[in-house]
Amino acid sequence: MNVHESEKIAGILCAKGYVECKNVEDADVIVYNTCCVRENAEQHAFGNIGMIKKLKKSKPDLVVAVCGCMTQQKQVAENIASTFPFVDIVIGTFNMDKFGELLDEKLLTKKRILRVLESNGEICENITPMRTSFPNAWVNIMYGCNNFCSYCIVPYVRGRERSRKAENVLKEVRDLVENGYKEITLLGQNVNSYGKDLDDGSSFAYLINEIAKIEGKFRLRFMSNHPKDITEEVVRAIANNEHACKAIHLPVQSGSNAMLSLMNRKYTREQYLQEVEMIRNIIPDCAITTDIIVGFPTETEEDFQDTVSLVEKVGYDGAFTFVYSPREGTVASKMQEQVPADVKKDRIMRLVDLQNERNRVDSLKYVGKTVEILVEDFDKKKNAYMGRDERGRMAYFEFGQNLVGKFVDVTITSTGGMSLLGKVVKVID
Ligand code: 5AD
Ligand code: SF4
Repeated sequence: MNVHESEKIAGILCAKGYVECKNVEDADVIVYNTCCVRENAEQHAFGNIGMIKKLKKSKPDLVVAVCGCMTQQKQVAENIASTFPFVDIVIGTFNMDKFGELLDEKLLTKKRILRVLESNGEICENITPMRTSFPNAWVNIMYGCNNFCSYCIVPYVRGRERSRKAENVLKEVRDLVENGYKEITLLGQNVNSYGKDLDDGSSFAYLINEIAKIEGKFRLRFMSNHPKDITEEVVRAIANNEHACKAIHLPVQSGSNAMLSLMNRKYTREQYLQEVEMIRNIIPDCAITTDIIVGFPTETEEDFQDTVSLVEKVGYDGAFTFVYSPREGTVASKMQEQVPADVKKDRIMRLVDLQNERNRVDSLKYVGKTVEILVEDFDKKKNAYMGRDERGRMAYFEFGQNLVGKFVDVTITSTGGMSLLGKVVKVID
């Protein structure tokens, strides 16, 4: 989400004639696009902004801007403005699309701009992002979130759900495919509720079915799905769409019903497991990945063991694991019984070990098989091309000519921990 937003800011600057520079010392404009979903991202941003002080001193005309969901919190925006007097522009998420005009205003008036606005519910359709993730392209289908999970700051800094019109999404996807992009990732905080605010019959299943009609060889991915909203209709649409990767990211957050209830997730462990079963009944080989938070307030060892047993039961193909961090303004941040840091650390380490071991064993099953890989990049350290199969597993392989953006068949010969090592047997496209 944030990466794509940065692509849009870069697109705005590009349209104004700016070009990307490799060294920060050469920059005329530096934009920090921040994230506040978890605490460490926020601390990171503070550290990075502080580092630019010296450069600004030697280059007074340099424009330094800070935007994103961190600065959408008014108190944080003010804190940044007072901590870093050399920052010229501080804006939030809702006026990021106006960055070009704000930059003009700053250059013209030479005055500092500190402008954090509330959402006006609008969706900006006229920015051409400067894409940086070829052969993948990110496509927002909606913005905001209505769910208010008790630990999460997103609804406060990104506003309520707003879906883009299906025709705009479909045009963007068609253009990207025509321009050679091989993987389209649809983005939304909860893609399953796409279209509910539009009242024109659009739904996520409709969008997937329409994308199925687009010709050309490309992969379709999407994130994230809220387990409370995923339906059989959507899973069948994925199953019937030859572009759609048979891979679903289904964040569970916890395996304990007590935690799920306190988290305001609106499903139980049992309902979640039923959904996993429903998905596997419709798409037997579907990869399922997840997000998990450990150390949510009041989480006991027993609650944590419920998460462990759920992870074992589902057999995830990948899990992003997070230590709970209180976010100001959220319901959970006011809960009294916070879990001590050392307990959180111990739990996350045990969980990471469990999932890594599962990935390692799973990788071994690939040896001897031939899988279709979309080549994403060349890894200089490994001196090999890298790419993923449809299920998201990373593979590395050597080849004599540039393969980035091509589909290749790779026979897996061995594994390197969780990743696969192999030999290209066919260049498809
Ligand atoms: N602490 C830790 N992890 C969080 N996430 C969201 N908010 C928090 C928080 N306060 C995680 C959730 C979500 C992912 C994007 O970030 O797992 O799915
Ligand atoms: Fe945050 Fe929950 Fe919305 Fe995801 S669904 S963005 S975790 S509030």
